[in-house]
Amino acid sequence: MVAMVVSETNNNLPVVSIVGTGVYLPEKVVTNEDLSKIVDTNDEWIYSRTGMRERRIARDDQATSDLAAAAALAALADAGISAEDVDLLIVATLSPDMFFPSTACFVQDKIGAKNAYCYDLGAACSGSLYAMETAKNQIACGAVKTALVIGAEKMSTFLDWEDRNTCVLFGDGAGAAVLQASKNGRGIMKGCFGSDGSLANLLWTPGGGSRNPMSHEMLDQKQQYLKMGGREVYKHAVKQMTQSIVDVLETNGLTADDIKWFVAHQANARIIEAIGKRLDVMDRMFMNVEKYANTSAAALLIAVDEVVKSGTVQQGDKMLLVAFGGGFTWGSTIVEWTKS
Ligand code: ACO
Repeated sequence: MVAMVVSETNNNLPVVSIVGTGVYLPEKVVTNEDLSKIVDTNDEWIYSRTGMRERRIARDDQATSDLAAAAALAALADAGISAEDVDLLIVATLSPDMFFPSTACFVQDKIGAKNAYCYDLGAACSGSLYAMETAKNQIACGAVKTALVIGAEKMSTFLDWEDRNTCVLFGDGAGAAVLQASKNGRGIMKGCFGSDGSLANLLWTPGGGSRNPMSHEMLDQKQQYLKMGGREVYKHAVKQMTQSIVDVLETNGLTADDIKWFVAHQANARIIEAIGKRLDVMDRMFMNVEKYANTSAAALLIAVDEVVKSGTVQQGDKMLLVAFGGGFTWGSTIVEWTKS
């Protein structure tokens, strides 16, 4: 039995909205064909099982904070807000520049957000959704006015490029959103969140931390790289994201018909299609996994940026965001779109 936490925002508190979004995607495109020269794979296998055709890979001289800073500046420009106006800066990532200090502090320095307090948030692929919820609640209760939420990953650093089971699935990138109190009552609605730590070993990077400290033996065993039980992850991702969508609709007194776009974590086209078919909303399931593969915590905010910049979301339209990731962690929320 897994508990679900509903984020019950007090009705007297202000609604919080997204006032700007931005992305950064590294220039280097790596196709399935390119990967077939590194590991024993091919375009047909990858595309038929994942819907991925290509992914972006960051340069050696770029760290996660560089990708994050570029996305952050794009989001601030979109919002028309100066970096100095940011009070809170959260980076969701599983591929930080270093264990400490936080990647968020590096981003602060790069963009000049000198008035912000900064920290990282670890919820794997659900990270940017968790960060958005955290920021929303701090704005709603009056602790801060402007929050910058970033999902950023240099996944390529943590992949075993000799393991075809994992290296073909991920890409690098960053997405960012600026949050402020809404001027018209439209914005981020109630969310539903859950985690199940008993399944942590199905998706993790076991080496390099305090459990399995850095050592020659650990490196020889390649424990510093992402490990995954693919089939099990697939089953849990479909089950939890489907249930989370049902829960968040019910929590907000809405039905699937009220949603313009379902924006799911871009893990894999087959996962997204399975959810879309179960709920009979496939025509409104957004997908860009073909271009960027799975960018973990960055994926949801990259997707949101693409949806809103496509011009297919008008004032008052509702986007349902849903994520799932290592931990396991999952969650969902609904955004009533407004751009003032
Ligand atoms: N190219 C060619 N063959 C491959 C590759 C590859 N890149 N990777 C694995 N194979 C082989 C396997 O070795 C296996 O060979 P075998 O039968 O000789 O042993 C065969 O393909 C079948 O492997 P399966 O694991 O059964 O393939 P499956 O159909 O389950 O697809 C996949 C694998 C795509 C990983 C699937 O399980 C999946 O999508 N899982 C979800 C994983 C995911 O999305 N993780 C992301 C992190 S979690 C998140 O973000 C939500």
